[in-house]
Amino acid sequence: MNDVNLKLIINHAKRYGFIYKSSEIYNGINGVYDYGPWGVEMKNNIKEYWWNFMVKLRDNIVGIDSSILMNNKVWIASGHKKEFNEYYIIIKNKIYNIKKFILLIFDIINNKKLYKKILILYKKKKIKLIIYKLKLIIKHYKILKYRNIKVKKINLMFNTKINSFLNNKYTYLRPETAQGIFINIKNIINSTKMKIPFGVAQVGKSFRNEIITKEFIFRTKEFEQMEMQFFIYPGQEKKWFKYWINNRLSWLYFLNLGINNFRIKKHKNLSHYTKYAIDIEFNFLNIYKELEGIHFRKNFDLKSHIKYSKKKIMFYNSKTKKKYIPYIIETSLGLDRVFYALLCKSLINENNRIFLKLPYFISPIKIAILPLISKDKKIIKISKYIYNNLKYKFNIIYDDKNSIGKRYHYQDSIGTPFCITIDKYSLVNKTVTIRYRDSMKQIRYEIDLLYFFFKKEFDISYFFKREIKDV
Ligand code: GAP
Repeated sequence: MNDVNLKLIINHAKRYGFIYKSSEIYNGINGVYDYGPWGVEMKNNIKEYWWNFMVKLRDNIVGIDSSILMNNKVWIASGHKKEFNEYYIIIKNKIYNIKKFILLIFDIINNKKLYKKILILYKKKKIKLIIYKLKLIIKHYKILKYRNIKVKKINLMFNTKINSFLNNKYTYLRPETAQGIFINIKNIINSTKMKIPFGVAQVGKSFRNEIITKEFIFRTKEFEQMEMQFFIYPGQEKKWFKYWINNRLSWLYFLNLGINNFRIKKHKNLSHYTKYAIDIEFNFLNIYKELEGIHFRKNFDLKSHIKYSKKKIMFYNSKTKKKYIPYIIETSLGLDRVFYALLCKSLINENNRIFLKLPYFISPIKIAILPLISKDKKIIKISKYIYNNLKYKFNIIYDDKNSIGKRYHYQDSIGTPFCITIDKYSLVNKTVTIRYRDSMKQIRYEIDLLYFFFKKEFDISYFFKREIKDV
């Protein structure tokens, strides 16, 4: 049985250079994390996998890298300034997210009819009325000692001051990467040959001033998103919505996280910009939670930017000879969340052995070159020769310190799929031992053929060919 829990994951991630708590020497900062040497390599591999699948191998999607700081009018137009709020309940010194608080109350009183009514009020954002009703319920059922319930509305955007000699202006750190795409759409169309239906993708940092950050990197204040906005003719949303759910699922399934660990949930608490949406939920440590969202944003964002900027961001349909505003299907995945999902399912703790069974293409280091006898000059020479040949092709590491057992253990712990050991036979017959991480099986292999062996092992082009149809 694989005995893995959150504590083991956090300790492993720190001990083996994946994730550290930010500002640790100053006692940290809540909900912010740093990625270490192997964490950044793994993150880059996830991004590359996403970018290849979503942008590089498709003719109808381009990428951008827009700024984190934008004119604050962007956030007025996008609705985030007015609507991107969370409500918190404060009782004595405890803070509850309102959704969690409602669940907590109804877990105790178990009144489904009333619960449904409160949820309808929540959907309509009638927060004052909800609080009034909850107070009555609490009094009636005598379920809480404290009567003094306070409610706080907090906008999730971080505001930041922009200095200038004339005036001091405020703007916000972006809470989603999507807006950078919407406000650039005319530039993108004018500078490329994109024609509807087409997509624009980007990967980048987003910030949310979450009060209740949770479960390691699952919900943090600073995180990375991998988002794609797909622009379509109005009326084609059902077809494309389905298309992107299937595409995103196939990308996720290939991460070897277990197909049965995913489920689709219709989004009930829609954000202000979505008409309908689903969450792809993942079974993180035995609880299903949101991993990625697919949203039908209709033309909410473009319409609003047209209104606030007074710019003509219209599209032209050459068939109908009419101008129109396209609809948008968005795919939005948290990079840190998929990283966490990979840690949850790849960290294997069984039969007194701990190793990280990452898919090869996600592993931070692909091959470790480990000379068996570190004092033998001839062995070192061959080892360095192999290292210098392969390092231009794959992300590899050279290590001649400590016992071979300890070196294997370290490479297993950072998820390196293959270790190469060089011994005295290597001098005679020009072969080395290749050790497989998962099975610990060992084979002898010719030094001159190593490149071809690994090229085949790390190739995932068959997956892309299968999933992305040629134009
Ligand atoms: N542009 C749409 C958008 O931002 P969202 O559902 O708010 O939609 C999309 O976020 C994804 O971003 C989520 O499914 C999750 O993977 C990730 N995400 C959102 N908030 C996060 C947070 N505080 N920490 C880590 N990841 C987060």
